[in-house]
Amino acid sequence: MRAILLAVATLVVAAIVAVGTLFATGVLPIGGSAAVSPSAAVPAPSSPSASPTPSASVPAIPSPEFTPEPSAAPAFDKAAYSIDDPTSPWVIVNKLRPLADGAAYEPPDLVDLPSDMPNPNGYQMRADAAASLEEMFHTALAETGVQLVAQSGYRSYSVQVRAYDYYVNSLGVAGADLTSARPGYSEHQTGMAMDILDTVSGCSTDGRCFADTTAGQWLAANAWRFGWVLRYPDGATPITGYEFEPWHYRWVGVPLATEMHTTGVGTLEEFFGLPAAPDYAG
Ligand code: DAL
Ligand code: ZN
Repeated sequence: MRAILLAVATLVVAAIVAVGTLFATGVLPIGGSAAVSPSAAVPAPSSPSASPTPSASVPAIPSPEFTPEPSAAPAFDKAAYSIDDPTSPWVIVNKLRPLADGAAYEPPDLVDLPSDMPNPNGYQMRADAAASLEEMFHTALAETGVQLVAQSGYRSYSVQVRAYDYYVNSLGVAGADLTSARPGYSEHQTGMAMDILDTVSGCSTDGRCFADTTAGQWLAANAWRFGWVLRYPDGATPITGYEFEPWHYRWVGVPLATEMHTTGVGTLEEFFGLPAAPDYAG
């Protein structure tokens, strides 16, 4: 029995000495605030009990209903359609860019305009442009009470010869070149341009009269919704080569018309980074 007591006493003393040594060597900290084990302060990644909760720092796995934030809209693709091909909705025709095929070019899908559209001269257009024009005429009537008029649409090369000659005879070449394209250089030959007037104002395709009408102002503000652009804006003569034509609209399709409207770019030349075309080459 004595031997047992002696052995226990020896063990107790040895334990006290061992613990004291640990404190003295810093293996065990002295003081409560520091009494956090390294493994608790920096939890091992593999220790589930010590890992932060998922909501604290690990992104939750998206649920099937998760809707990501919309990312930035993709840049408008300016190469989506040709600007050289006369059949392309984006073809650009100006004094430096005559129609390919010149006198021979005729659009592939000319159609008559629907009978409910005033079209005193019986002009045709390409099918997509005509459908869009009809929708625009209906909307204009609904929103303003004014009936638009299709004054001049597709003009063949030979019709443009007569139009240009008329202006040369009345204005001279310099005057004609500010208001009428030479044959082979007119958007009207693409079948995607329309001179638009109305039934009430009495304005013509001459001067600025139409710009101040209800119809003219509605078109200037709304034609883009239907894929049309005012091709010869006020103040753009050094770029387009033509005086302000508040009646001359060009169908380019809704995406491009919308992009030009949104970005505030007024001419096709500027939008596509083409040279200004105030004069014919040579
Ligand atoms: N009035 C436009 C410029 C044309 O003749 O095509
Ligand atoms: Zn025109």
